[in-house]
Amino acid sequence: YLAKLSSVGSISEEETCEKLKGLIQRQVQMCKRNLEVMDSVRRGAQLAIEECQYQFRNRRWNCSTLDSLPVFGKVVTQGTREAAFVYAISSAGVAFAVTRACSSGELEKCGCDRTVHGVSPQGFQWSGCSDNIAYGVAFSQSFVDVRERSKGASSSRALMNLHNNEAGRKAILSHMRVECKCHGVSGSCEVKTCWRAVPPFRQVGHALKEKFDGATEVEPRRVGSSRALVPRNAQFKPHTDEDLVYLEPSPDFCEQDIRSGVLGTRGRTCNKTSKAIDGCELLCCGRGFHTAQVELAERCSCKFHWCCFVKCRQCQRLVELHTCR
Ligand SMILES: *[C@@H]1O[C@H](CO)[C@@H](O)[C@H](O)[C@H]1NC(C)=O
Ligand SMILES: *[C@@H]1O[C@H](CO)[C@@H](O)[C@H](O)[C@H]1NC(C)=O
Repeated sequence: YLAKLSSVGSISEEETCEKLKGLIQRQVQMCKRNLEVMDSVRRGAQLAIEECQYQFRNRRWNCSTLDSLPVFGKVVTQGTREAAFVYAISSAGVAFAVTRACSSGELEKCGCDRTVHGVSPQGFQWSGCSDNIAYGVAFSQSFVDVRERSKGASSSRALMNLHNNEAGRKAILSHMRVECKCHGVSGSCEVKTCWRAVPPFRQVGHALKEKFDGATEVEPRRVGSSRALVPRNAQFKPHTDEDLVYLEPSPDFCEQDIRSGVLGTRGRTCNKTSKAIDGCELLCCGRGFHTAQVELAERCSCKFHWCCFVKCRQCQRLVELHTCR
């Protein structure tokens, strides 16, 4: 539903909320009550998809969305590791975009976080306009998590999704940083004002990709009167709130299976010299690869002209392009 949301135009009328595909009733209500925030939700969804495709660009599953299929395909409707990543990055994207919109003054409902103020122990002045991550996280919790809560949060899948949604938001929280600006004669930094800021989204994506690589396979277990997810392999140390968890092993993503939303790796560009997953051996699943010479247009012999522009020539360079059979 986030992929669908990311592709619509602006959301400025209550009517638009009704028309958005894939939202559940409680989300439509939230959409109507928070119209001005919805553009950030849309931007957050876009950000999440772009980041997912960047982080997975060299892998068999490359996070591509298929228009005709349930968003991201069945791989994500099943409780796989890939689904864990998609849920985490999506809830992080929403928290991130809403937080940014708050700080930039776009929204009436929220602004900067002014609770961080005064002089810090390190001697700098807080600007009084820190990123309001608490608001962004709370909005993401209510808008994104409501889907699972309405299903009755005790199904294994709901537990998995809620856990990964939270892990996504934690990836922002644990990478918050302090940014500063110097004031004084010619940048002497006599006075420094600082604020707490969200990390670049690329860093969040990278952190979650590492969590994907180390994700824990879990199974539901009765704990007291409720259910919880515990590691399937008792020898593994329990996962933390920041780790990703999944319930089912993933397919190998080698062959196309449109019904499951798996595109297969035929035609994908691979790296002949790499032994990793982006290498032709692994990416093409042992089927071999084609090699073609392609001409690449590049800018070259760039010269700086006084003043002030750079002029380049167009050069053609022959490169070998390998694609999976
Ligand atoms: C992902 O791979 C498929 C082929 O398996 C390709 O058609 C698609 O363009 C790729 N998507 C991205 C975002 O790289
Ligand atoms: C291919 O893989 C090798 C070895 O991992 C690496 O050094 C090289 O930069 C890669 N080439 C491309 C085009 O990514």
